[in-house]
Amino acid sequence: MAKRSSRFVCQNCGTVTARWAGRCDGCGEWNTVSEEDDGGSGVGAGPRSIAVTARKGRVFPLVGLSGEAKEAPRIVSHMPELDRVTGGGFVRGSAVLIGGDPGIGKSTLLIQAAARLAAGGHRVVYVSGEEAVAQVRLRAERLGLGGAPVALAAETSVEDILATLQAGETPALVVVDSIQTLWTETAESAPGTVTQVRAAAQALIRYAKASGAAVVLVGHVTKDGQIAGPRVVEHMVDAVLYFEGDGGDRFRVLRAVKNRFGATDEIGVFEMTGRGLEEVANPSELFLGERDGKAPGAAVFAGMEGSRPLLVEIQALVAPTSLGTPRRAVVGWDGSRLSMILAVLDAHCGVRLSSHDVYLNVAGGLRIQEPAADLAVAAALVSSATGVALPRNSVYFGEVSLSGSVRPVARAEQRLKEAERLGFTGGLVPAASLGDAGTTMGVGGVDALVDLVARIAAGTGTGGQPPADRGAVAFDRDRRAAGNRGIERLPGRQAGGSY
Ligand code: TYD
Ligand code: MG
Repeated sequence: MAKRSSRFVCQNCGTVTARWAGRCDGCGEWNTVSEEDDGGSGVGAGPRSIAVTARKGRVFPLVGLSGEAKEAPRIVSHMPELDRVTGGGFVRGSAVLIGGDPGIGKSTLLIQAAARLAAGGHRVVYVSGEEAVAQVRLRAERLGLGGAPVALAAETSVEDILATLQAGETPALVVVDSIQTLWTETAESAPGTVTQVRAAAQALIRYAKASGAAVVLVGHVTKDGQIAGPRVVEHMVDAVLYFEGDGGDRFRVLRAVKNRFGATDEIGVFEMTGRGLEEVANPSELFLGERDGKAPGAAVFAGMEGSRPLLVEIQALVAPTSLGTPRRAVVGWDGSRLSMILAVLDAHCGVRLSSHDVYLNVAGGLRIQEPAADLAVAAALVSSATGVALPRNSVYFGEVSLSGSVRPVARAEQRLKEAERLGFTGGLVPAASLGDAGTTMGVGGVDALVDLVARIAAGTGTGGQPPADRGAVAFDRDRRAAGNRGIERLPGRQAGGSY
């Protein structure tokens, strides 16, 4: 009798091992490894089983790079925020994975896009493996989409789905919600396991390429690794979009992390309302929130997300620590980048925060990846540490190097134009970027981080003259004199002098 063999597969990253382990060697996650039947081809399957399935290879044609390459025909959803992220619409014959936490709004986004496309005359099939037909209908009706001619089904068998799709007219778009609920007879493990997810995705991707339909797969990302993460599907699909947002917040950001047909740095911004997702055409206004401009520790960063300028508030709180090792908590930015800025402030600017807790937050639940945010982060930190509020109408951007110099960043002009449009009148930017800034705004240039610290300490966090009304910058002398807020030696501060 043939010995049944099994293997152990990490449900988070798909690493296969011969033995069970509490912690996955591949991704380092705990309790994600579970036993799966290997179907005779996994770890431990000898060469004999391979020989059985081997067949004579088929000769396929090899072609040149310069052959006929048609412009990928796209299916435009006319939801500008979605089309921006896909690179101008869904591409026929391609597969897209939309990942995100459960409840973030993936199904809502896709039923809205499906209804929009169906209303535009495209054939759209929406297969829900999670909700019953009645539930999807109810939601569509509540969103005012009840009349859209979307072909709807609640089904989880990959074979049945493919048979149904192949029987009718080829759809322009197929939405499968979600990949974790599907099961295929070609794999023996339970639904939701890595083997099943991979096999089901493979079958649907093959269908997309063969038929020319655009296939959208929904995948839940869970941190505890109980459900197979869509990570294992990422390399198989043409585009991976993540739908992110703070559960408690209304704002949602759709971000491309991989796109074979477009840029990966574009984001689409949505707001979850009682009537579904609404597109946010001017995200800067949204991420700036309600600023009072009087509190220290807030700096407005003039950033770029893909081709679009985006202004966002960066908030810092610096407070004396009661712990042996001070706390460093970051939301929306890179923690190691924060450590670097703190080290540069310490080594080159005399701002020592080693006995202070530091909290950093990017407003609105946004995640920033640009190094250009360095200067705005430093400004927020110094502002909080000194208790000096930054001028309300100033923006900051610039990359900080380890030597303490401020390096120019791309698209200074576009950043400042957006700031000007939103009523900002000043700011501090890399001196080298001033030349191509081409604006009438009162921005100042800084060459070194130490210049920024000096200007903030002097109460002029912008390039302009100190404001006539000192009260406007909430300069709190007493607070500064009373407590050691981490500034030991400030450049620009005269020994024994007054402010
Ligand atoms: P859903 O699209 O079901 O999330 P996912 O498919 O990513 O799991 O969205 C669920 C959440 O969205 C739910 O908590 C309620 C909220 N929601 C609204 O606030 N307004 C709406 O109009 C809809 C349809 C959902
Ligand atoms: Mg859903």
